[in-house]
Amino acid sequence: MKRAACIEDLRKIARRRIPKMFFDYVDGASWTESTHISNSAELAKIRFRQRVAVDVSNRTARTSLLGEATRLPLAVAPTGLTGVIWPNGEIQAMKACETVGIPYCLSTVSIASLEKVANAASRNFWFQLYVIRDRDFIERLIQRAEAVGVETLVVTLDLQMVGQRNKDIHNGLSSPPKPTLANILDLMRRPAWCYGMLRHQDMRFGNLQGHVKGLDSRKGLAEWTNEQFDPTLNWDDVKRLRDRWKGKLVLKGILSPEDALFAVDAGADAIIVSNHGGRQLDGAPATIEVLPSIVRELNNCCEILIDGGFTSGQDIFRAIAYGADGVLMGRAMLYGLGAGGQAGVEKAFAMIINELETTMGLCGVNSISEIGLHNIHHTPSREE
Ligand SMILES: Cc1cc2nc3c(=O)[nH]c(=O)nc-3n(C[C@H](O)[C@H](O)[C@H](O)COP(=O)(O)O)c2cc1C
Repeated sequence: MKRAACIEDLRKIARRRIPKMFFDYVDGASWTESTHISNSAELAKIRFRQRVAVDVSNRTARTSLLGEATRLPLAVAPTGLTGVIWPNGEIQAMKACETVGIPYCLSTVSIASLEKVANAASRNFWFQLYVIRDRDFIERLIQRAEAVGVETLVVTLDLQMVGQRNKDIHNGLSSPPKPTLANILDLMRRPAWCYGMLRHQDMRFGNLQGHVKGLDSRKGLAEWTNEQFDPTLNWDDVKRLRDRWKGKLVLKGILSPEDALFAVDAGADAIIVSNHGGRQLDGAPATIEVLPSIVRELNNCCEILIDGGFTSGQDIFRAIAYGADGVLMGRAMLYGLGAGGQAGVEKAFAMIINELETTMGLCGVNSISEIGLHNIHHTPSREE
């Protein structure tokens, strides 16, 4: 890991270390993966306006997100099954966030439970909620989040049904892994991962096991999730959640100005412009493509966060220039985790901070609040 210089280097290390079915689970996306591919391709098209002879000796990426001071405008996106990437993966990632000074968001479908992560945490973390059919379970989950001091609830709205990821089907992804010959041979090639998991790990969903009826770990993940997610979810449910949750409410999965307005109307403190990392509606636009129209429509009435394809400090700069308040990263964090646990995630963020603050300097900018469209070369039209 010493010579890793960018997120792609960490990705390659993680690929060697993690069993194929779990690497593909992280790396893959739905159907043709076109939305996933365009998330990063559209970001890469955005060019900067370099400036020279500006005193940038005092530049810093420090800012705040949802009222919390952060080292840079970045939070970790909620990712399910993070504990299969590295033993105690959620806790390792959360601790890396604490060290760096950015928010960590725990997923509903994490391996480590809310309580386990809270026991290890010395700061507040965000909790992401999937609204599943069993609303009593949702109420209990909210009570558990309150009990451990969560102040920011991220409700994911783009998973009323599960997008099909072909790689997961090909690999027969299940938790725990099915003992097929191919899987056994693959595991034998990853002794470090096997050793770590055997020593530390329970591979069940920490927040769900013992709390949800019908969760059977022998079932395929897709099969189980398809049964549990709720196609009836609507804005009235979201408003009820808003009334129920006294802390900050963030709505994730917004891709159109209309839905952004509904989110504000429902009482969101922030939205996350997200296509779930291209894992849901394949063929949906890249998030950076729809960002400007949403920024225009909301006109500063709530914070706007964005995710999907962000893997560098330059990408964060691009999103801020287009009007976002902050960025979330899913895979970039997971590649760091897969490459080296907590140290790998810290390494990933150190690279990103360096990239962001160097980009700021070369664009003649000293602070995040100075970044805007004036830093972009030939602003392309990016309407939906
Ligand atoms: C392996 C993996 C698991 C994910 N699990 C969840 C989840 O449990 N809840 C959720 O709201 N989003 C989930 N997401 C989506 C992320 O929160 C985020 O929207 C996406 O990863 C952003 O794209 P990026 O991975 O390109 O950064 C997951 C993404 C990945 C890659």
